[in-house]
Amino acid sequence: MSKYIYGIDFGTTNSAISIIDTTTNEILKTFNESSLIFFPQPLQRSTSTTYFVGKEAIERYVASNMKGRFMKSIKRVLPRSGFTETRIFTKKYKAEDLVCIILKYLKEKADDFINEDIKKAVFGRPVVFDEDPVKDQLAQDRLLKASKLAGFEEVAFQMEPIAAAFTYERAISKKEMVLVADLGGGTSDFTLMKLSPSKLKSVHRKEDIIGQGGIYIGGDNFDSSIMWDKGTYHFGRGLTYKDFDNTVEVPKSFYLNITSWEKMNFFDSLRLQSALDKFDYLTGRNPRFKNLISLVRNNLGYSVFQSIEKAKIELSEKEKVNFEYAQSGIEFNEAISIEEFSKEIIGEDVQKIRAYLLDFLDKSNTKPAAIDTVFMTGGTSMVKPIKKFMVDLFGENAVKSGDNFNSVANGLAYSHVLFFKP
Ligand SMILES: Nc1ncnc2c1ncn2[C@@H]1O[C@H](COP(=O)(O)OP(=O)(O)OP(=O)(O)O)[C@@H](O)[C@H]1O
Ligand SMILES: [Mg+2]
Repeated sequence: MSKYIYGIDFGTTNSAISIIDTTTNEILKTFNESSLIFFPQPLQRSTSTTYFVGKEAIERYVASNMKGRFMKSIKRVLPRSGFTETRIFTKKYKAEDLVCIILKYLKEKADDFINEDIKKAVFGRPVVFDEDPVKDQLAQDRLLKASKLAGFEEVAFQMEPIAAAFTYERAISKKEMVLVADLGGGTSDFTLMKLSPSKLKSVHRKEDIIGQGGIYIGGDNFDSSIMWDKGTYHFGRGLTYKDFDNTVEVPKSFYLNITSWEKMNFFDSLRLQSALDKFDYLTGRNPRFKNLISLVRNNLGYSVFQSIEKAKIELSEKEKVNFEYAQSGIEFNEAISIEEFSKEIIGEDVQKIRAYLLDFLDKSNTKPAAIDTVFMTGGTSMVKPIKKFMVDLFGENAVKSGDNFNSVANGLAYSHVLFFKP
């Protein structure tokens, strides 16, 4: 039997795999990769479908001049009961098949590193995949299926923020009441937990978990909001045309579709293109509407969202940034200030996360003052208005952060003691 077990954090944006040596309980290595898949357009008459994952997916997608199917935020598909499969060129893929591609990629990286075929892993899951328990279960079942398809035999699930708590626990020297806030691309998850350095190897931790909860809002939503507020105008939102005596706006649905990756992932491009042609004509071939046609025809969704994410990430450091885009005839530049971003663009979502957290603490019968440390992890924990309300609620000294992209995978690996007998 191998002494290694994996901790696997399949994230909306980033995924990670940690290899733990169970004899020393030390992490040997963590690999990180973006949760992206690119299926290049097959050569004519070819029936085989190949794909690339992570950084290579981006490189190949760009090198192929954006031909093919580029997929992002696949985790968001897991709880969708309406999603059964998608056809990618010649092959049909279920949700678990898509997830399996990423898991297999991670497993191969780790297996190659230790030169073994590891069959045991602790997988992370958000506290809520979905508010509806049936959909929530569906998501975990699909993740389980994906893990089996990827070659795992013994699989356990752990809540992502509890995993992050275990990572933080290794850095403390006394007992602490800790709120873990794992703010990712898809969800904002919270766990309230008693941590203690003396508990590092304990198997029974149930009574230490005071509460856990989460809300289905994350950094992806902020990207969508930037697209809606600052991008869609340049793709023709608000354009009108005459229908007899009435002035009618072009359908909002076009713009709702291009603000969300879930929808972009599964564009029915033929139907969409004929609808686009119709409104192109009706709006008198307006250059802004032409941008929308170019976006869809040239498959530019990912590159637009890259510019959006770049602007968002810069706003974690700067007061004012530019959301710039120039490609395939589309060209615009929108300035975004941190005030506008914090209030108008993402203010509502930030308020929802804050309100959720306050309600969560209330339900856990815990006042902010009773919390020794707030351990923030995940990429979205760097977003300024989020950091600000956390500091306002808990005080500057209480709010700490660790490795935003590896804490969960490492903690999942540390969790092996809870699930697997030595
Ligand atoms: N410096 C930064 N400032 C603001 N946002 C950032 C920064 N770095 C990354 N992000 C955002 O963080 C998110 C990714 O975070 P993370 O990798 O923790 O998510 P994930 O684990 O993939 O998602 P989830 O846990 O929700 O499934 C993305 O929305 C990304 O744009
Ligand atoms: Mg995460």
